[in-house]
Amino acid sequence: MLMKETTLRIRLFGEPVLRRKAEPVAQITSVHRDILIGMTRAMYAESGVGLAAPQVGISEAMFVVDIGEGLYKLINPKIVKKEGRQITDEGCLSVPGVCIRVRRARKVVIKAEDENSKPITIEAEGLLARVFQHEIDHLKGKLIIDYASLFEKLRMKKKLGELKKKVKHEELSESETKSCPLFRPM
Ligand code: NI
Repeated sequence: MLMKETTLRIRLFGEPVLRRKAEPVAQITSVHRDILIGMTRAMYAESGVGLAAPQVGISEAMFVVDIGEGLYKLINPKIVKKEGRQITDEGCLSVPGVCIRVRRARKVVIKAEDENSKPITIEAEGLLARVFQHEIDHLKGKLIIDYASLFEKLRMKKKLGELKKKVKHEELSESETKSCPLFRPM
């Protein structure tokens, strides 16, 4: 699979892996732990607050999250409880330059496994709850653009077309990697 030193490339809208449903991890091994280290590095390098495995081309159910209050590495995550609601702009490292208003639960309870196969339960609210929900969407092949209103879809049509073209030619400029001005991408 992957070597420890391999730099993980962030996959962009238009790449099929982002639309695939991630496989549950049957047995957590050192390979997964290495990938999680690489993902953490990639997330920090891009100043993101979350990164799911499909975003680096790996179709397995795991993600990393750090909103500035500590790093989470979660495997086989599931939302077991949702409460309330919050509506905020979200950006995604895989859809650079696009910012979408997304409605999410305000509070969630997540059950997952840590990198040592230990079951964990996390209660989260606000931004942390939102990032968890965003990353779990990635594991289902769902992206923020799927939440776009008709108006937003029209507005970003050109942008997404450009993005798809650029994925083919691998020429994304620095300015195009920025998405929401107020929030860090995930
Ligand atoms: Ni994302």
